[in-house]
Amino acid sequence: MAENKILEAEEQENSPMYDDEAEKARYQEARKAQAEEDFKKPFDKDALLEVRHLRKAFPIKKTITGKVLQELVAVDDISFKLHAGETIGIVGESGCGKTTMGRTVLKLHKSNGGQIIFDGQDITDFKPSQMREIRKKMQIIFQDPYSSLPPRSTVGGILSEPVNVHKIVPKDQVKDYVLELMDKCGLRDYYYERYPHEFSGGQRQRICIARALSVNPKLVICDEPVSALDVSIQAQIINLLKSLQESMNLAYLFISHDLSVVKFISDKIGVMYLGSMVEFGSKTDIFANPLHPYTKALFSAIPNPNPDIKMKRIALAGDIPSPANPPNGCRFHTRCPYAKEICKHITPEYKEYETGHFAACHLLEE
Ligand SMILES: Nc1ncnc2c1ncn2[C@@H]1O[C@H](COP(=O)(O)OP(=O)(O)O)[C@@H](O)[C@H]1O
Ligand code: SF4
Ligand SMILES: [Mg+2]
Repeated sequence: MAENKILEAEEQENSPMYDDEAEKARYQEARKAQAEEDFKKPFDKDALLEVRHLRKAFPIKKTITGKVLQELVAVDDISFKLHAGETIGIVGESGCGKTTMGRTVLKLHKSNGGQIIFDGQDITDFKPSQMREIRKKMQIIFQDPYSSLPPRSTVGGILSEPVNVHKIVPKDQVKDYVLELMDKCGLRDYYYERYPHEFSGGQRQRICIARALSVNPKLVICDEPVSALDVSIQAQIINLLKSLQESMNLAYLFISHDLSVVKFISDKIGVMYLGSMVEFGSKTDIFANPLHPYTKALFSAIPNPNPDIKMKRIALAGDIPSPANPPNGCRFHTRCPYAKEICKHITPEYKEYETGHFAACHLLEE
């Protein structure tokens, strides 16, 4: 007993003591300094979209005078670049901030920090009037094709409206333009006079895709576009998105919790956990050489079609912590099978470990 006490005391003496509050402040200071340095860098001319240190926080507790007492940081310090014709897949469990990130990039949410550079312009502080021109270049497709279409308009009406508003073609050519677009999206011409409720989920999603593409965008944010569809229909919609991407040179930010879908469509993949990007890289690097324990655990859950290959499934302990009160240090430490003492106190730095392959984990620094 006494021996145990001595051992414990020795262990405590040998293990560094951490001051979590001081560590948090030090980390935030370092991130801020890095962000300020990065904001001064010229924009990458080759990128269609460049996101630098993006942050979005929702106030969740306020005083009656409106002072924010507590906030939920849904998107915390996210950076990446997306090129024309390219797809970045964003994966992560429900609630990790994928939708908020997509909406903040589109400025449907006001960001609380960072820069959004689109098509050579810093649009972070653009006013609604300045966004009008930009809007048609960046579109979004939602998960639920049932609630995202107005029930009282015909397909022709739904697709003509944005074409008219943004004056994409002269008035007398709108109908022909819409019919051609419908054909490209696999919609028969007689659907023009029909209403959304007459269609299945897959057909409705085709209408949503056609509506997004009607204004000739450069970027489309696809937020779980096939998650609500039957598995048999999912492949058709994914294939449609792929062929439209090729013919229109579209860039996709493709948000999904379904890794098989993301693996199929993406060129690059970002893995999010509790608002942060924990790993980012080319699809090949991420699948052949996942660096972060969270990525490894997520990927070990993908069913392998080859029954001869037995994947060792890594089970994640515990529930996802609340983003309103994230753990100190590495946010993943409460569920990570490799967590060490340092992980509980010090946030690992997000670093480039091979060209274009970024991750944040203390294990990688050893
Ligand atoms: N308008 C909002 N107000 C407060 N919290 C929000 C709001 N929108 C999203 N959140 C919170 O932000 C976190 C990220 O949500 P979301 O972006 O929808 O995640 P995902 O798309 O990955 O499932 C969640 O904890 C969610 O509850
Ligand atoms: S930093 Fe630690 S807790 Fe976080 S992923 Fe790496 S090993 Fe796990
Ligand atoms: Mg979502």
